[in-house]
Amino acid sequence: MGDKRFLITGGSQGIGAAIVEAARAAGNEVVFTGRNEELIGRVASETGAHGIKADVSVGEDNARTVEACREHMGGLDVLVNNAGYGYMAPIGEVDMDSMKTMFDTNVFGLVDLTNRVVPLMKEQGQGDIVNIASTSGIRGHANGTAYSASKWAVRGISQCWQTELRPHDIRVISVCPSEVQTAWGGRAGRNNPKKLYASDIADAILSTLSANRRALWPEFAVFATNPWSEG
Ligand SMILES: NC(=O)c1ccc[n+]([C@@H]2O[C@H](COP(=O)([O-])OP(=O)(O)OC[C@H]3O[C@@H](n4cnc5c(N)ncnc54)[C@H](OP(=O)(O)O)[C@@H]3O)[C@@H](O)[C@H]2O)c1
Repeated sequence: MGDKRFLITGGSQGIGAAIVEAARAAGNEVVFTGRNEELIGRVASETGAHGIKADVSVGEDNARTVEACREHMGGLDVLVNNAGYGYMAPIGEVDMDSMKTMFDTNVFGLVDLTNRVVPLMKEQGQGDIVNIASTSGIRGHANGTAYSASKWAVRGISQCWQTELRPHDIRVISVCPSEVQTAWGGRAGRNNPKKLYASDIADAILSTLSANRRALWPEFAVFATNPWSEG
């Protein structure tokens, strides 16, 4: 699949940057977003993708992001809603403002951007939307009230969009990674060869997207095979 136009949110590092790299390596055009200009610049120069500073929780930034896709690629075929982060706290100590702010990015920003992209995809008669959820959205865990809720929401939203968009030949795919060794939650520097790397998630997404358009994988999880043993 080397002739698609990708928009990837949160492509300045971690899983998003790995998807930018894999999509470019396969010969696709890519626009990606992030907030850290230095990281955006690094990914852009390493991959040849077009990076823009845009916060997915801000409506005007999302309008600008879609405009950048028109300007640089003439539109888009694949939207990867990846930007997100975790706010963790035990019930009894959940800060409601922090939970709402996280929902602005993980949930409301994802809906706002997709709301702006779907009319373009309907008009062109096809498209792919990949939503990065989490295994935290499949099974709750201690301290996960806010984060798990946001990722359950992403899975539920994905199911709604599948129902609405399949008749328009738009595939919606929800991806649930288990622990991936990124800077997520401030946990940079892990390098355990037995645990998932960002490139593992990118590879899984690219192979799903390369399936014949007849085939839709509505949702899949990615786990490390044997993360408990140090290799
Ligand atoms: N790592 C894991 O174990 C794991 C597991 C399951 C699911 N996930 C999900 O996978 C996605 C990527 O996580 P990651 O591990 O790659 O994290 P990461 O290394 O911290 O990268 C997060 C990316 O999202 C961007 N971002 C965050 N908030 C944003 C906003 N409001 N607007 C625009 N960009 C924003 C960041 O941009 P800047 O740095 O430029 O601000 C960065 O590029 C998230 O949705 C996360 O919840 C991660």
